Amino acid sequence: MIVTTRELFDIAYGRFAVGAYNINNMEQALGLFEGHERAEAPFIVQLSKGARGYAGVRMLEAILKAAEESYPEAVFAVHLDHGDEETCYDAIDSGFYSSVMIDASHDPFEENVAATRRVVERAHAVGVSVEAELGMLGGVEEDIQVDEKHAQLTDPEEAEAFVEQSGCDALAVAIGTSHGAYKFSGGQGIHFDRVEEIQRRLPGFPLVMHGSSSVPREEVERINAAGGALDPSAKGVDVEEFARAVPLGVTKVNIDTDGRLVWTRVHREHFRDHPENFDFRGPGKVFMEEYARFIEHKSEKLRSKGVVDEVRAALTPVPVD
Ligand code: G3H
Ligand code: 13P
Ligand code: ZN
Repeated sequence: MIVTTRELFDIAYGRFAVGAYNINNMEQALGLFEGHERAEAPFIVQLSKGARGYAGVRMLEAILKAAEESYPEAVFAVHLDHGDEETCYDAIDSGFYSSVMIDASHDPFEENVAATRRVVERAHAVGVSVEAELGMLGGVEEDIQVDEKHAQLTDPEEAEAFVEQSGCDALAVAIGTSHGAYKFSGGQGIHFDRVEEIQRRLPGFPLVMHGSSSVPREEVERINAAGGALDPSAKGVDVEEFARAVPLGVTKVNIDTDGRLVWTRVHREHFRDHPENFDFRGPGKVFMEEYARFIEHKSEKLRSKGVVDEVRAALTPVPVD
């Protein structure tokens, strides 16, 4: 069942975070739905501009519709990740998306507000909700690279003004995380004091944490032992910290890199151990199972495990004509 992102947030706020995962293909979709069925957790499927270009907009829609049929108990929202204005309008007009993200965080404050406002007007007219971003995460997103010295934590006072002026429904905040596998070095981590101050100014307003992959050390080591060349210092968000972020209003947690690491580990190990093989379905099956297990584990850490019946019961029934 595809639901509105807003309804999911209303139920989740302060209690659990909804995991938002990027998909690009059938294998990721099947692992994602299987994992959430086992976890009995609601979730958000994220489609990036890159994914839309890779698989094709119609193909992604078809994959999700087929997954929905195969997993009739699934409760999920469909979200455009890191959209520009044009892609937001395309997603809104398609009628397939529950929510869109307009990412104008690289623009000056006033321009970010104006672009978000325009998207909000068009989205709200058809019941689509809007995530915006304020502040700048380090790392790479879509085709924009932000290096660490230009990354900028979200200013709480600006966040309050931004939400009021833009009318957005959720805000992606820069609180120390970054996209990709190399987030932290030494004792760095999430700036909880910043999240606390943002929540104080925006009580009850859903915050989104991008760059939330944990980049498990063991995963990096296995990839490198199977021929990979990832920097062994790669480090991400400690999954135990989700429980601390949830009561502070972090309601959506974006995870992509960790899924890519699962894919890379499974395929590297498979072809190392079976160099004679050229049938991709063997490792594909292993990947789907490993990805489902990974999703189940994340749901537990996000505290969304086991809540799906309650969520379904709280949703507004769609009128039947
Ligand atoms: O934040 C970006 C997500 O990880 C999506 O990555 O743009 O390469 O699909 P992508
Ligand atoms: P990661 O690179 O940490 O998985 O972040 C993904 C993300 O924020 C997608 O929007
Ligand atoms: Zn992101």
